Amino acid sequence: MRTIRRILVTGGAGFIGANFVHHLLASAKDCHVFNLDLLTYAGSRNNLRDVIDSPRHTFIQGDVADQDLVSRLLRDNEINAIAHFAAESHVDRSIAGPEAFIQTNIVGTFRLLEAARLAWQGKFGENVFLHVSTDEVYGTLAPDDEAFTETNAYAPNSPYAASKAASDHLVRAYFHTYGLRTVTTNCSNNYGPYQYPEKLIPLMIINALTGKPLPVYGDGLQVRDWLYVTDHCRAIETVLKRGRLGDTYNIGGLCERANIEIVQMVCGLLDELRPRSEGGSYYEQIVHVEDRPGHDRRYAIDPAKIGTELGWRPFETLQSGLRKTVLWYLDNQDWVNAVMGEKYREWIALNYAARTGGELE
Ligand code: NAD
Ligand code: TYD
Repeated sequence: MRTIRRILVTGGAGFIGANFVHHLLASAKDCHVFNLDLLTYAGSRNNLRDVIDSPRHTFIQGDVADQDLVSRLLRDNEINAIAHFAAESHVDRSIAGPEAFIQTNIVGTFRLLEAARLAWQGKFGENVFLHVSTDEVYGTLAPDDEAFTETNAYAPNSPYAASKAASDHLVRAYFHTYGLRTVTTNCSNNYGPYQYPEKLIPLMIINALTGKPLPVYGDGLQVRDWLYVTDHCRAIETVLKRGRLGDTYNIGGLCERANIEIVQMVCGLLDELRPRSEGGSYYEQIVHVEDRPGHDRRYAIDPAKIGTELGWRPFETLQSGLRKTVLWYLDNQDWVNAVMGEKYREWIALNYAARTGGELE
């Protein structure tokens, strides 16, 4: 079991990273978190408002691709663990503009690996580098295919998935070539508090509440595996402490659902918790719009390895996790208002104007 005392979390002002920072500060009482985040459109100090004043949390605004900065952080703070979340993370944005994905996900991961290799040379035995990745690197499944295991071949289909696949390969190479103590996790779709509303579930909650269309791509029968974010954070802490070095672990919620089912569940919860003032159901706002190019039909994760080796399993069901999520968005209107600024409106116009005839702006 490794002890995590001084950890660099990259991307810790984004959705999963911020949840992880909250989780770790609560669960590892003697751990200091150094949180490096560029604060792109997806990152915000608002996601850290509960921990920003903690004496065990230091926030640094900066780029993972800035190797001098990262090297200094690792040396000056005697960091012995890295949890690398920082990334461009949205498939639709990777289709609209792939360059940032190459820069942050591939070049950024490379520079971080280099900084760790140089800072930790000669004392590899005390350190660990955990790379947070996605199930999307494995490509798409047919309805009856077996779920992804760690031995599936990589077959990424979007620029996002390809950039994450490239970063996974770099991490693997640094383990085999330089002996850097790495471990990689490949997780399914997360949902929960602090998720930027460009992703399916928060977008649907917010659009429903503001009386806008709920834009389902294509037939809505694409299947994803859904995991509540806190379960993912527990899995990452487990792998950091006990994951086998040089190995990869698939993390999933054992919860496959078609997109249309997810949207209908969100509508059902909102009908119960915040009924429409004009009557009727949120279901009436669902519209089918033009599909995503190259849209993967199905992802499914087999989490047997992390279950058997490390004893991890998800605690939340989709019902309990979605209820918590909807309640969080209802209770945090100030957060929602702050996130829906000019940059957000620009993205909605770019991605949905043609799809919905401008109805979403
Ligand atoms: P996010 O887009 O919400 O947050 C990304 C964070 O990284 C933001 O705070 C952003 O400011 C920061 N960032 C971006 N570029 C940076 C740079 N160059 N230097 C420093 N910081 C930078 O993403 P997320 O959903 O929290 O995903 C976190 C990680 O988990 C990503 O690596 C993603 O690939 C992976 N992942 C996400 C999911 C999911 O469902 N969201 C599932 C599996 C894996
Ligand atoms: P998303 O949350 O973007 O995650 P990912 O593409 O990484 O799986 O999308 C989840 C699914 O929901 C995906 O199949 C695309 C679909 N989707 C819609 O149908 N409408 C939308 O407006 C969005 C954002 C996604």
